[in-house]
Formats: sequence, C-alpha cells, structure tokens
Amino acid sequence: MHCSTPKTSASLDPALLRANFPIFGNHPDLIYFDNASTSQKPFVVLDEVCRYHTEQCANAGRAAYSWSTQLDRAIEDTRARVAKFIGANAEDLAFTSGATESLNMVALAWGLLNLQDGDEIMLCQRDHKSAVLPWYNLKDILATQGKTIHIKTFAIHEVGDYDLKSIKDQVSPRTRLLAMTHIHHVFGLDMEVAEIREIVGDRVLISLDASQSVGHIKVDVAALNVDFLSFSGHKMFATTGTGGLWVNPRVKDSLRPMKLGGKSEATPEAGGLNLKHKNTAELLEAGTQNIAGILSLGKAVDLIDSIGLDAIESHVSDLTVYLYGKLLNLPGIIFAPGMGICRCEAGFGIMSFRFEQISNLDLSFVLDEENIFVRSGDHCTYARDTSEEYIRVSMHLYNTKDEIDQLIAVLEGVVG
Ligand SMILES: Cc1ncc(COP(=O)(O)O)c(C=O)c1O
Repeated sequence: MHCSTPKTSASLDPALLRANFPIFGNHPDLIYFDNASTSQKPFVVLDEVCRYHTEQCANAGRAAYSWSTQLDRAIEDTRARVAKFIGANAEDLAFTSGATESLNMVALAWGLLNLQDGDEIMLCQRDHKSAVLPWYNLKDILATQGKTIHIKTFAIHEVGDYDLKSIKDQVSPRTRLLAMTHIHHVFGLDMEVAEIREIVGDRVLISLDASQSVGHIKVDVAALNVDFLSFSGHKMFATTGTGGLWVNPRVKDSLRPMKLGGKSEATPEAGGLNLKHKNTAELLEAGTQNIAGILSLGKAVDLIDSIGLDAIESHVSDLTVYLYGKLLNLPGIIFAPGMGICRCEAGFGIMSFRFEQISNLDLSFVLDEENIFVRSGDHCTYARDTSEEYIRVSMHLYNTKDEIDQLIAVLEGVVG
C-alpha cells in the first residue's frame, strides 16, 4: 500500500476554515467524523444553490432565451474547472448524481454492450457495494441474453492492501475489466493503482472508484492510467446528488448511453438509433441535470483550490497519525486493516476500529449522545460477520486535534 509521508509541509488553519461552514456555527458542539459518507457544506456552495433557485432558475441549454444559454455556459465552465481539477479534458467528464450512478454507468454503458459470453471481470468484495453490485447485476442481465460472464474476486490482506498475487494468478486473456478503489473507504489506504496496472497490462480496463480521493488528495487521471474514474461531489463539499464519471478517450467509442432523453443527440432510424453525440459528456447525460448541484460542485472545487490540496492532504494525514497514536493506548482496541495494522507514517483521514468491551453500534450511540458523529457497521461492504464491522472515524479539512482529544476522552470513559 502507499502510505508515505505527504510530500508537502503546506499547512492550513482548520479553526479559520470552519467559519466557512455554517453547520459549525449552528452546532458549536458538533464533532463531525463521518466525512467519508458526506461532507459538510460551505457558504459558497449553499449560496450558489440559493442563487440559482432565487436569481436565475431555468433549465439549461434547451431554450434560446438568455438565462437558459447563460446557465448552459455556466455548466460547461464548471465542467472545465472540475475536469482540470482531476487533470482531464472537459469533454471526457460526465456529471452524475454521485459515485453510485457513475459506477453503475460503467457496467451498463460499457459492460452491457461489450462483454461477451465467457468474459471475466475482477473485483474485491471488501470494496464498497456501489463498486461491486453493478457487476453482479450486469451478470444477471447478460444471463437473460444467454451470455455467461465470470466474476473473479480478489481479497484484502490483513494489513489492508489488495492481494496482488491473487490478481496476478487470476488475470487471464478473458479478463476485460478490473474494478478497484483508490483510497479505501474503511481501511483508509491508497490501494496501489500503478501496481495493479502493471500486473493486468494495458489490455484490461480499470474502473477506479475515487470517491475518497477526489477532493482529498491530488488526482490526475493521466498519471493514474485508468479507464473509468468515478467520484462523489457531496463528499468534497458540493451538495448531495452530485458526482462525476471520467472516461478515458480510448474507450469512449465503445460506450452506449445508459439513459436517453430530450437533449440526447440520437435519432430513431430504420436500422436502429443513430447516435450522434460529440463526446462522453453528451453521451452520458440526458434529461434535466442537477443544475444547482453541478454549479455547487464548481464552487466546491474553487474553495478546495484556494485552500490547496497539498495543505488539505497534509492536515488530514497529520490528524490521522495523531488519532492512531491516541487510539493505540486504549484497552481492548482491535484495529481494522489500515493504519492500525500496517503502522503507516501517513493516512488519508480514515481510521476504523472496534473494541472487545462494547459493540460498535452501542459505542456509536454513546458517542452520539456527546455530539460525536461516527459511522458504525459494515460500511456498505460485504463484511463476513460482526468481526469485520467497525467504528469508522473519517476526517476532513475542518477537523481538529482538539476534536480527536474529545473523542478519546469519551472512549476512555467507556472502555478505560
Ligand atoms: C468508496 C465509495 N464508493 C462509492 C460510494 C457511493 O458514493 P455516492 O454516495 O456518491 O453514490 C461511497 C460512499 O460512501 C464510497 O465511500
């Protein structure tokens, strides 16, 4: 796994940054440690949603009147900013309702059309269900067409990285795509995209779930050398119902739209639908988009850019190391795979653990009473039993060491 010290000493002041997020003014006692699920929203994002609805509410790009054309331009400008943020070209980025929609699109817009009888997909069942289930769904759909695809699974080692040997042993000439995660949402580790690309070679497509990396660390689609990259907007300060799917230009011509509607460039003809979309964005988006959400994502990206991803990564890593150092001394603690086991020098804001003395569900209720919000349970993965269920603390730029100290004080009271 990759978990070395971030390359930067750039810093930020979380106390100052908190002033950008009204939730902390409304709830001064709130300790929000569930950022891997969704982040809090800053004023700039909320103002943009309000501005759209109160000052210029119209549909985008459908009418010739000024508001509609201006909104269309604003969406395309946002697409360019978000694409630049991940090192991509705007035409290769489609806006979606979130990572779940993006990941399902990969299966349905690419897999449905391209997979043949006997083809294989590789995935890890300890990844998020949104990255796993679309392939089982597709397998069932293809079975109704008389095609059998095989899903080969690879495991996670005790420390939290993927079992690369099992990938190497199982990849075959029939492997068409490997689905994987960038930063794991429970274990908080960088899951080694480059090593996996090396193993599977260029022929196998890689679908990367970047829900916990985009907006947290620098993500560059070209450097990652993957084929699909899915991410959530709402985990990086935009409103819920926002996200994106980037498609590598090398596969764009093998896609079929998952949905079609008013703005789709498609005409029914005798021989079938004549699809005339210019690019991925046009191909994958149909119907009225979440205009307010998309505009809010642009504002979220601007805010992150103004703070600096290096500073965010460094701050969050610092918090993770600090949290680990404090948790280590608590009696009965059992760490999930991740920093707690591999003892990395740096982290990505996610730390999962449980205690011998109390179930993680009960512990989350105790913490809730202290206004400390953490996640408990299986975290949308296929945990084999409760020994694979954990409390997860997930942090972002506004979290502080003082909040960690308060968490530890409550934990000491329960298990100490
Ligand atoms: C790794 C991972 N993938 C996918 C998702 C689903 O994202 P969304 O809520 O944007 O659909 C999540 C959300 O928790 C996640 O952590």
